[in-house]
Amino acid sequence: MALLVLAAVAAWYVQSFAPAIAEAPSAGDDSGAFDPEPLAPLPRSVDLDAAKVALGARLFKDGRLSHDDTVACATCHDLGRAGIDGRRTAVGVGGKVGTVNTPTVFNSGFNVCQFWDGRAPTLEEQAAGPVHNPIEMASDWPEVVGKLGQDRSYRNEFGHLYAGGVSSAAIKDAIATYERSLITPDSRLDRYLRGDRGALDDRELRGYRLFKDLGCASCHQGINVGGNFYAGLGVFGDFFRDRGKDGPEDQGRFNVTGKEDDRHRFRVPSLRNVARTAPYFHDGTVPTLEEAIRLMGKYQIGRDLSGEEIGLIAAFLQTLTGNYQGHPL
Ligand code: HEC
Ligand code: HEC
Repeated sequence: MALLVLAAVAAWYVQSFAPAIAEAPSAGDDSGAFDPEPLAPLPRSVDLDAAKVALGARLFKDGRLSHDDTVACATCHDLGRAGIDGRRTAVGVGGKVGTVNTPTVFNSGFNVCQFWDGRAPTLEEQAAGPVHNPIEMASDWPEVVGKLGQDRSYRNEFGHLYAGGVSSAAIKDAIATYERSLITPDSRLDRYLRGDRGALDDRELRGYRLFKDLGCASCHQGINVGGNFYAGLGVFGDFFRDRGKDGPEDQGRFNVTGKEDDRHRFRVPSLRNVARTAPYFHDGTVPTLEEAIRLMGKYQIGRDLSGEEIGLIAAFLQTLTGNYQGHPL
């Protein structure tokens, strides 16, 4: 309910605010004092049990979580590649092709729910999804627990950390703990938000002002620059009719709730590191960042953005690329 209210408020904000914007703000206009920032910096570290993080890291890379031992979480969420596979849609066990784009696992701990349609409320519950998904890992918990339980080093590690030893709950807990460690702090925007006013150059600042003034930040806001609530794709105009494709994977949250109001609603994606995570949108059909921005202008704020505006916003979005710490690209 709270999510619906928030989304409704965001839609109202966009509709009432966007038409009032007559011109692009001038460069360097960051007279910040009366203008609370809609975005917040990522923490530089998260307090987690280091042994569980290490176990989760091992599990994340282990093919035995899949039916034929060939597909690990890291196969699709390649940590040396910003946590994605770079494909339009995912490819799982036996080369089966999925219907949606692989989102990054970096910073996923800051999203209020998991998956494009938010069907998993937590990272723990999320982890069961790919294991069981016939076109991802095509396995199940008894099979995975059986295989890992035969490995003495796993038996020892789990035995130290979890009263029940190797179990599905322990596997999910360790993986989720590991995922919470996958953060990308200290992007240039974060340095700016922490007070380093020189961290963004002129063009990037103008892009940031546009991002705020046009209403992008009414949906893509907070610590993850998104990930906080659901919004319809096509607030202004019918995105799906216009492009002539409206398949089952395009129904979004409707697939979870069955409510008509939820048709074509998606969790607003985080824009952190978005310059590194092409292709875009839930079905990976948008190849470039510029095209994603153009479509957002048209369908989410009802505005045909100029090439210059798109360039400025793209320059700003580049500043959201953070430090991948132990996982350089
Ligand atoms: C075959 C490729 C593939 C494999 C293997 C895979 N994933 Fe994913 N992952 C995806 C896709 C595709 C989605 C989006 C699915 C959706 O939203 O319906 C996703 C979504 C996620 C999300 C949600 C991110 C977000 O922003 O909503 C997390 C977290 C995640 N995966 C972690 C894992 C973990 C942990 C494993 C291993 C247990 C794993 N994935 C295995 C492709 C894969
Ligand atoms: C009403 C809420 C809303 C507004 C306003 C909005 N967006 Fe979005 N944005 C979304 C949703 C929902 C998606 C996911 C679309 C999909 O998956 O098909 C999205 C996707 C994106 C993506 C692609 C992210 C990815 O990983 O695929 C970018 C980039 C983006 N928005 C930028 C912007 C910009 C720039 C603006 C302002 C011009 C903006 N958005 C305004 C809700 C919004």
